[in-house]
Amino acid sequence: MSETDDTELEARLAEQDEFEPPESFVEGANVTDPGVYDEFEESWPDCWEQAADLLDWDEEYDQVLEDSNPPFYEWFTGGSLNASHQCIDRHLPERADEAAIEWVGEPTDEPDRTITYGELYEEVNEFAAALRDLGVGEDDVVTMYMPMVPELALALLACSRIGAPHSVVFAGFSASALAERMNDADSEYLLTANGYYRRGDPLDHLAKTNEGLAEVEHDVETVVVDRLGEDGFGHDLTDDQHDYDDLLADHRGAEVEPVERDAEDMLFLMYTSGTTGKPKGVKHTTGGYLSWVTWTSQAVLDIKPEDTYFCTADIGWITGHSYIVYGPLSLGTTTVMYEGTPDYPDNDRLWEIVEDLEANQFYTAPTAIRSFMKWGEEYPNRHDLSSLRLLGTVGEPINPKAWKWYYKHVGDEDCPIVDTWWQTETGGMMVTTLPGVKNMKPGSAGPPLPGVDVRVVDAEGGEVPAGGAGYLTVHKPWPGMLRTLYRNDERFIDEYWAVYSDTDSDDPEDWVYFPEDGAKVDDDGYITVVGRVDDVVNVSGHRLGTMEIESAVVAAEGVAEAAVVGADHDVKGEAVHAYVILEDGHEAGEEMRARIEESVEDAIGPIARPERVVFTPELPKTRSGKIMRRLLEEISDGEELGDTSTLRNPDVVEDIRQDVQGD
Ligand code: WT7
Repeated sequence: MSETDDTELEARLAEQDEFEPPESFVEGANVTDPGVYDEFEESWPDCWEQAADLLDWDEEYDQVLEDSNPPFYEWFTGGSLNASHQCIDRHLPERADEAAIEWVGEPTDEPDRTITYGELYEEVNEFAAALRDLGVGEDDVVTMYMPMVPELALALLACSRIGAPHSVVFAGFSASALAERMNDADSEYLLTANGYYRRGDPLDHLAKTNEGLAEVEHDVETVVVDRLGEDGFGHDLTDDQHDYDDLLADHRGAEVEPVERDAEDMLFLMYTSGTTGKPKGVKHTTGGYLSWVTWTSQAVLDIKPEDTYFCTADIGWITGHSYIVYGPLSLGTTTVMYEGTPDYPDNDRLWEIVEDLEANQFYTAPTAIRSFMKWGEEYPNRHDLSSLRLLGTVGEPINPKAWKWYYKHVGDEDCPIVDTWWQTETGGMMVTTLPGVKNMKPGSAGPPLPGVDVRVVDAEGGEVPAGGAGYLTVHKPWPGMLRTLYRNDERFIDEYWAVYSDTDSDDPEDWVYFPEDGAKVDDDGYITVVGRVDDVVNVSGHRLGTMEIESAVVAAEGVAEAAVVGADHDVKGEAVHAYVILEDGHEAGEEMRARIEESVEDAIGPIARPERVVFTPELPKTRSGKIMRRLLEEISDGEELGDTSTLRNPDVVEDIRQDVQGD
């Protein structure tokens, strides 16, 4: 292409705010009928039989939706199934020799690992048998604190095979965060690894695991995967720690009948952050969740069994559960798992993987796309990415500029982009374009999926007109929804349901689900999600609670009081800024800052480390003593300050502003 063409193209792209799906894509897409929206609306909730039909039920369900006890909705009641059967056994006749998982380790001098469906069957069965022998029974919660190695995916399936719910804790979380989650769930089994590689260096993950175990209040049987081999740190395993390979060797050839689970039986638990300092255990069930992720993987990610599908998320977060493991494997496709970071050994690592494996879909987060942009188009340009058919994003809003960069330099203007809004709690996608049906609008996730009743409402619960902004709400239940917060129904109601109602009534029938996001809606019903309206920050697509970070900051010796806010950040989306008041006798400075950082790393993990610590003699407070975090956020973002008239101490804001903004 000549340089003038290129400039014209840039100009056209920059102006264009609506894109049609490429014809070549539409021709072969899984869903192409625009009538699906009306059809689902008219037949709701029976429309969701289409999702359930993608699964192989042991016992057919007798009811699609059981809604007699809102907000405790149930889906596909009376039905039974097993998730590992859906993801493995049922594909064996056709796909035993096809790749289920393509695993790529971070070091480049080590062979990749291809696991066929046949091999997946064998190893999952062996591990399921081993878990049973360790004492894991149906409904026992098994915690996983694992890097991105194949054993993590296998373990999810082994647990689901024996009806043991898993609770995966992101490996980047701290020892204390692990212990807190294991204690909350009374989880007596743990799968971990001796380490993993990060930018070329081995990390000692078992040392961190052991620190965490020391804080767990009950006995734990631990299984340790030897990821590092000779690079390991020479830890001896204790009596209640078992080597993964030894366990498999002891159960070579074992087969375990998949346990028949009720549709509403728990498949897994996933802890996530919310308004209070305590993480919430989101409970997902077998039938509804699996139907949801299977249907959305097919309709939105356009996955077909013969595809190679690459999602860059970590299985430690919900995206990895739904769209690396359960959705793709349920459809019998090949799913890619990559252990490392996108910039090791160079900034083209992900494109190298796409080219080598001829990936057809690529699903990532806007924060990654902003890094790709910063690194420059020469990195994707170095590789043949023509195998790609569809691109996706998730986790935070994507600005139109990043969207267009992705569209052009990764998708070569020939792949639709699905900007998918959803949450840990929703189980799977809720708002996004159907890629073979709808036009795309950069920056806007799109309309709600068929059968999904998402609306933008004002503070009183009234629907905002087109062009308006307000709060995102979901007005009808959906199969993938969380069922409750683990052993805390009350918090489930308080946090998500009793917030908005059509009539302001306290009748649960009128309640709607509140995801705690702000959003705008346009004339075509396209929704642009702006961000959280609660005390949650989104750092590089990682969801962190400001209250959790604040309590970690305050735990540092010498800190009297702290307020944590999410400040705008070019690459990370948001960065953690901590405003800190010290106790008398303690000095602001480097040493204090290091102490605060360490305290946060210990309590949560390096991902929550404050990017900036501002020492201040006072925090802006309302007359009733509430910290005005909004003002601190404005200061961090270099914005004009909003209304300070309700403050008890208005002068302090100007002092802090001058200190931070430097004028
Ligand atoms: C929060 C959920 C969904 C899996 C990964 C994150 C934000 C998510 C989008 C999007 C704008 C988005 C929301 C949401 N979010 N997707 N496409 N556009 N914002 O799951 O950790 O539960 O976080 O991520 O604020 O509430 P999570």
